[in-house]
Amino acid sequence: MYIKWNLTKKCTLNCKFCHNATERKDWSRDIGIEQLDQIISNISNHENLEGVSLLGGDPLDYQYILQLAERLEFHNISFGFITAGEEIYKGTYDAILLNKNLNFIGLSIDSLNPDTVKYVRNKDMLQRQLDSLDHIMNLRAKFNLNYKIFTNTIFMNVNQHEIINLVNFFKQKKVDKIQILEYKHSNKSAYDFSVGLEEELKFVNDISSYIRENQGEDFSELELCFLPEPGKDYLRRISLNENISRGTSSKCPIFRDTLFVSNDGFVYPCDNYKPYFRISQTTNEPEKTYKIENLIKKQLHTITEKNEYFKEVKSLARKPKEELFGNLEPCNKCNHLLKECFPCLQYSTSSTTQSFVYEDKCKFYMEISNF
Ligand SMILES: C[S@@+](CC[C@H](N)C(=O)[O-])C[C@H]1O[C@@H](n2cnc3c(N)ncnc32)[C@H](O)[C@@H]1O
Ligand code: SF4
Ligand code: SF4
Repeated sequence: MYIKWNLTKKCTLNCKFCHNATERKDWSRDIGIEQLDQIISNISNHENLEGVSLLGGDPLDYQYILQLAERLEFHNISFGFITAGEEIYKGTYDAILLNKNLNFIGLSIDSLNPDTVKYVRNKDMLQRQLDSLDHIMNLRAKFNLNYKIFTNTIFMNVNQHEIINLVNFFKQKKVDKIQILEYKHSNKSAYDFSVGLEEELKFVNDISSYIRENQGEDFSELELCFLPEPGKDYLRRISLNENISRGTSSKCPIFRDTLFVSNDGFVYPCDNYKPYFRISQTTNEPEKTYKIENLIKKQLHTITEKNEYFKEVKSLARKPKEELFGNLEPCNKCNHLLKECFPCLQYSTSSTTQSFVYEDKCKFYMEISNF
């Protein structure tokens, strides 16, 4: 069991690409210290809790982040956090970095071009991010700490030509995992940073040339999360490199035993699938609403074992793949189905309300893979 905890909607930044932009708040509805203690007590005795990822907004902007890290250490719960890293270099968060239960830090850096960073983040902050990267590297070396250092880069139309340079830089720095994320566009956003399939293919071909030119090097830390599994097949083939990581980007969190906690303590089995109601097969109308539980009030294991929605989702995930995805094109012909790829359960055959977002992308890479 793994928890992704969206600690706060607050963030001192105002990035143009941010999918939380419409939800970002500068006022706080985050939990206080007493409620935090209740949540910690309700998760700390869970038998299979492998770890907690602290997310946001920016998790470092949560008022009680230092106290939270202390409590996680006290209960021996492994944790990591993802941040844009604007302030870390100052040493303000060193107490968290020195925490023996800190398992990973994810730093979001999208380009080495200061103008691109200034444009997408509405702030001239690249140098501070790079200083923060050096700071976490140096501190780890100095105190012989165990945390892993990951980088997150969003694949966008404004940085696509700068990413190979960035990957090369992260490799020189010996970053443990280099993730290139899929840009998620929101219709509410005033900006659109989407990359079309043709441009994407050009990037994949360019990065494969870079990998081939550096054939002796290990690329197992590189994860092109924006590619679906047939795209990763294509990249591995043309790069002549089978070690490029597949990562877990094609695994729906329900199949990964990951659940989500929001900043007010409510628990969800999936981050995208709210509110929880069941759609009738006959009328196509919501026929049932599920109760959403709060970790301030109940133990984690009671929620995952007794809550009706958690139980139904678990039993849905156990169904045979033909029953779940038998009608879903092109998954029903794909070798990766329920092996490397676990598509979103919203697309299972019981749901007629969704159109399948990866259909075109997967078909495209399946076709060009058969060269
Ligand atoms: C929402 S942020 C939260 C943590 C922190 N504030 C940060 O920016 O790193 C988590 C990750 O999502 C990425 N992200 C934000 N908006 C995105 C979008 N529209 N599409 C894809 N990834 C996005 C960020 O770059 C970051 O790596
Ligand atoms: S730092 Fe993260 S949460 Fe804050 S605005 Fe940027 S992407 Fe969004
Ligand atoms: S076709 Fe379906 S199962 Fe195959 S990789 Fe794409 S989404 Fe996953």
